[in-house]
Amino acid sequence: MGPAGRVCSVLLVVCLLGLHHSSGFWIVNVVFPPNAKSRLPSNSTPPLIIVPGNLGNRLEAKIDKPTLVSWLCYKKTEHWFPLWIDLNMFMPIGLDCWIDNIRLVYNRTTRRSSNSPGVQVRVPGFGQTYPIEFLDSNKLAGYFYTMVQHLVNVGYTRNETVRGAPYDWRLAPNENVEYFTKLQDLVEEMYEQYQKPVYLLGHSMGCHYVLYFLNHQPQAWKDKYIRGFISLAAPWGGAVKPLRVLVSGENDGIPMISNIKIREEQRMATTNPWMLPFDTVWPKDHVFISTPTFNYTNRDYQRLFTDINYEDGWHMWEDTKNLTGDLHPPGVEVWCMYGVGLPTPVTYIYDEEFPNVDPVDFVYADGDDTVDSFSMGLCELWEGQQEKPVHVTKYRGLAHLDIVFNEQVLNQIQHIMDGKSDTPNEIDVRFRTK
Ligand SMILES: *[C@@H]1O[C@H](CO)[C@@H](O)[C@H](O)[C@H]1NC(C)=O
Ligand SMILES: *[C@@H]1O[C@H](CO)[C@@H](O)[C@H](O)[C@H]1NC(C)=O
Ligand SMILES: *[C@@H]1O[C@H](CO)[C@@H](O)[C@H](O)[C@H]1NC(C)=O
Ligand SMILES: *[C@@H]1O[C@H](CO)[C@@H](O)[C@H](O)[C@H]1NC(C)=O
Repeated sequence: MGPAGRVCSVLLVVCLLGLHHSSGFWIVNVVFPPNAKSRLPSNSTPPLIIVPGNLGNRLEAKIDKPTLVSWLCYKKTEHWFPLWIDLNMFMPIGLDCWIDNIRLVYNRTTRRSSNSPGVQVRVPGFGQTYPIEFLDSNKLAGYFYTMVQHLVNVGYTRNETVRGAPYDWRLAPNENVEYFTKLQDLVEEMYEQYQKPVYLLGHSMGCHYVLYFLNHQPQAWKDKYIRGFISLAAPWGGAVKPLRVLVSGENDGIPMISNIKIREEQRMATTNPWMLPFDTVWPKDHVFISTPTFNYTNRDYQRLFTDINYEDGWHMWEDTKNLTGDLHPPGVEVWCMYGVGLPTPVTYIYDEEFPNVDPVDFVYADGDDTVDSFSMGLCELWEGQQEKPVHVTKYRGLAHLDIVFNEQVLNQIQHIMDGKSDTPNEIDVRFRTK
């Protein structure tokens, strides 16, 4: 937006290049994503809808604000402009403007969130792939690009046989009711058009969106319209990382943005409390946050939210914990794929400065560097809980974000689309196999 935006696009490149590879769950950090290899076309291209993870699609805003956090911020815009990823957020003042535009205001009485006063937010491109392929209009921050291109190389058509279902990822499903109607319409439309049931593919938090959607559809509808659910790196039991995000912030390696600063934005979204480790599945005595004065387990969330001075978070957690917390089986054939073999924090240790500094130490368990394998492996519970098969494949050495473009994962997805039912239990991605 504006000339400042153009100056910034140069900076954006610099900033994105500075991102740590695979540092994140909360930011998409694949700069210059790998190209898909060319393939022999397949004559089996069943319709596919992709549901991205948290921060995983573009958002746009239009503003006419009563007050400004800084005179340097725009007060009013005539047109919709990119809010995520907004180039201005990488500028020191721009960050404050950006936070004031993207933040949500939570009302404890209505238990609903609304946009910052004078800000309208929309999700562009529902049903198309561009808002999930690249998050910025310069096509630098790639996300599903490689996967979509792989599919196109085997015969899929963008916006037709493969489509994206982006959503406002600041909100949990209870505040995104219309999204599920749109998703249902999209499934039915693709079914009618191609006369084949549809595959749903989710990544990370997007898998909980898919699960919530499927849990609210009658079995007969699912039997007719859904061919299967491919879940990539789903934190089925929640994730430990959002605790750190809420406590002390997490810039995911973006230079120039401090963790404490970005925490202001991260404490607005209801999706972060929703994704805390579910109290239904984690051991009651597991310490997630350790400080010199208290060890917090998942029975201590209320105290934790009070101690970090974020009581709205407790209400948001209460509003969202039942959405998918019981892990009710989806009732469709599931391919549950996730990375293992990488050290992943399951306890954050803070010093006296808690909660206003980064953790000083970590306790690690096995996982994909962002989500632990205990949580991601909970899809195994569905075997035997539903009639439809559940296939679980672990990818040894595969990081949380890399799963959306790893070649072996893409080949496996293609294999599933081809209707082949054999699924390996484990694939080692550290050494290429024939
Ligand atoms: C919350 O919503 C209620 C009911 O709509 C309203 O009366 C109240 O003013 C709102 N609170 C805030 C802080 O906006
Ligand atoms: C998909 O739709 C978007 C937005 O309408 C458009 O820019 C893009 O070119 C389309 N892609 C294809 C391959 O038609
Ligand atoms: C927290 O747990 C650790 C490890 O079990 C223990 O050493 C420490 O004393 C506990 N801290 C508090 C404040 O209870
Ligand atoms: C969530 O589920 C629990 C147990 O089933 C129930 O007691 C509680 O009232 C539910 N909370 C909400 C907000 O629906």
